[in-house]
Order: sequence, then structure tokens, then C-alpha cells
Amino acid sequence: MFMKKKISKKPNNMLKLKTKKNNTVKSKAKVTQFIVANWKMNPPHKEAAMAIWSGIKKAALEASASGVKTVICPPAVYAGLLAPKVLGSEGVAALGLQDVFYENEGSYTGAVSISMLQSIGATYVIVGHSERRIKLGETDAQIAQKVNLALATGITPILCVGEHTRDTHGQYLDVIRDQLKASLAGIDPKSIRKIIIAYEPVWAIGKTDKDAMKPSDIHETKIFIHKTLTDIYGSDAAKVPVLYGGSVSSVNAPAILENGEVDGLLVGGKSLIPEEFSAIINAAAGVALK
Ligand code: PGA
Repeated sequence: MFMKKKISKKPNNMLKLKTKKNNTVKSKAKVTQFIVANWKMNPPHKEAAMAIWSGIKKAALEASASGVKTVICPPAVYAGLLAPKVLGSEGVAALGLQDVFYENEGSYTGAVSISMLQSIGATYVIVGHSERRIKLGETDAQIAQKVNLALATGITPILCVGEHTRDTHGQYLDVIRDQLKASLAGIDPKSIRKIIIAYEPVWAIGKTDKDAMKPSDIHETKIFIHKTLTDIYGSDAAKVPVLYGGSVSSVNAPAILENGEVDGLLVGGKSLIPEEFSAIINAAAGVALK
């Protein structure tokens, strides 16, 4: 029988830090930047996963004092192993998953439920990543179900949207608008502030740092996303964090954060390289302090 276990919901802007004596202290720094690591189907073994975390925790700790929330989204099989490290004695970052199943219980071989995610202390989940939409045939309806489940459980959904190509007639804007509408179908309008949007143009994912979207275009798209959301959900939606993802590196992160005026980054390839990802976290701290 499925047992609902509620894990207390912490406001996003309160980071819990542990002192050496293991006393919990709260950083009052208001979170203004989310730096999310999407490890995808990497690394190939658990020791490497632990090593990546060890390599980035110092930057995550230091940046947390400046209002940067680092969210680690490993493959599900490593999440339980990393949970005590990420959330335990170091307690400076949050744990998320890269996906969750759209039903909370039942016979679904291989699936991971939202309550499993919650039971290990994860507080974020990436939903609707383009690789899942395109390669695994995920539909808007399933994505909306996942968003609704996450919200009902107190988990923050990081909803990915983004066009495949940028045409010159602005049709990509329709694509983004339609994805937002369909993926958020059925949510309680009051929940809109509990969602994070990750804008990830598909054409910019997994390339070199020169192929990322230009900061001015990112900024324009962020404004369009807020306009779409406020038209539907009212002025509260203007505060929804909008992250950018797509070939982010330590080289382009400072300009994207500053001139793109996004509220953080969703980082794939470079989140597996501790020096790179630490530099990206540091860039966010630099922008957060301005
Ligand atoms: P990338 O991946 O940083 O390797 O482009 C981003 C993503 O797919 O989330």
C-alpha cells in the first residue's frame, strides 16, 4: 500500500547549512540564481559521480552565501547515494532528478515516482527536457501530469521549453507559447510561483560555447516567456525564475547571466567537469552580488 510521506517544504530562499559541529544554520541569502547540473546519463560509475560532487561542493558552499542555489540532478540510480553527501553534512546544494514518472503508483516497470524522489530528500525535478520529448516521445499531456504531481508533492518542477529551430518569421515564439500552455495545463494558478522555467533552445544544446544563444536573444525570450505566463496567470508570474540552457560554459556564463538577465542556468556537459561547473557557479555568485 502506498504511504504518503510528507517532507517539510522549505522556502526556496532559505539555504540550510551545517556547521562543523553539525548544527544546522540557515543562510539568509535570498536565492537570486539557480545553477542546475543536468548530468544526463553520466558518469558511467558511482565513484565518478561522487568525485564530481566532491569537486564542486566548495564552489557551491561559497556561492550559497551570495544567493546562488546549486541543484544537482544526477541519474536516478546515483541520487540515493549522493543524497547524504549533497544534503547531509555538506548540505549546501539541493538535489533534483532529471525526470519522474507521471503516475505516482502502479505497475510501471522501470519508472521512478515522485514520492521515491521525495523520500530521499530531493526537492527539484527537471520535467519535459527536449531529449525526453524528442528521443523518448514524451507528450505535453504527460509533462503537464508530471508538473501537477510535483506541485502537489511540494517538489519544484524545472520545466524545459524551447524551439527546435529559430525561423525568421517568429514562429519559434508560437512553439514556446504552445509548450508553456500545454505543459502547465491544469495547474492551480496560485502555484505558478512554485515553478522554474528552463528555456533551452534545442539547436543550442550540446555544442561548443560559441554556439550558445546570444545574451540579447536570451533576454528577449525571457521577456516573452514572462509575458506569456502573466497573460495566463497574472502579475505573479512575472516573478517565475527563467533559466537558460544550451552549451553553457565558464566562458559564456558571465555574459549570459549578466546580459541575458536570466535567473540561472541549466548546464549539461560542463556540469560533469568540476573546474568548469565551479567556475559557472562562481560566475553566478559574481552576478548575484551586483
Ligand atoms: P548542454 O546541455 O549544456 O550540454 O548543452 C544542456 C541540457 O541539455 O540541459
